[in-house]
Amino acid sequence: MLIDTHAHLYYDSFKDDFDAVIKRAKDAGLKTIINIGTDLETSKKALELENPEISFYSSIGIHPEDTINLTTSESIHEHIKKLEQLYQIHTGKIIAIGECGLDYFTGRDPEVSTPLSPEAKKLQHELFVSQIELAKKLNLPLIIHCRDAWDDIFLPELEGTTGVFHSFTGSPEIAQKVLDLGYYIGLSCPVTYPKNDYLRQIITDAPLEKLLTETDCPFLPPQTMRGHRNEPANVAEVVRVIAEVRNLSFEEAAEKTYKNAQKLFSVV
Ligand code: NI
Repeated sequence: MLIDTHAHLYYDSFKDDFDAVIKRAKDAGLKTIINIGTDLETSKKALELENPEISFYSSIGIHPEDTINLTTSESIHEHIKKLEQLYQIHTGKIIAIGECGLDYFTGRDPEVSTPLSPEAKKLQHELFVSQIELAKKLNLPLIIHCRDAWDDIFLPELEGTTGVFHSFTGSPEIAQKVLDLGYYIGLSCPVTYPKNDYLRQIITDAPLEKLLTETDCPFLPPQTMRGHRNEPANVAEVVRVIAEVRNLSFEEAAEKTYKNAQKLFSVV
């Protein structure tokens, strides 16, 4: 019994072979997939996904990079209100707020990329805090995205909330901060990359009951599929790494990580 706690199956890249993707997921042992919204539109699209073979749940949220479109406090406020309305209509299927967070990444080449302006950072902060407040109001966990913003992400507003730092790529020290906050660590297919010993170290050190499995598909394919579209079936590779590193059987690692997701997201 496997779960992909972070997928974006509403992407066009899944349009042509959606049923085949779901069949492969089911054949790989998946029982549940959580589709993650990244703005108002994709939060709606995620809710429309259905399949009799696998349980689909959803999150609603606005990715920090969407501050490109939301450039005023009014527009942020307006969107948060609409997210809340979505929740009122689809309570039960919506099990988290996110993905939200901070993303200061501006390019792989520091020579040519200019750092994010203070105004842009301020807007991301406002968008993130408004979603933290929404999560508190609706009593839902948060799905947090953080890239190149570790110094700013641990906001005092997070106190009293719970959730996951998805597709975690921070250092072991940051992982400890995540755990101290009571949050979960979302593990995606980069745990299979040979160079990522630091991620396998985190799997070794963290309490097993704080680890979640995800793909973030169509992004971040496992080592065996580098350069290709990722899909939920590959969450099995994440479970395999957890099993290896923690010296468990595949079934034990699957069962334990599934239970973790059940506990955080109240999925069945
Ligand atoms: Ni994602």
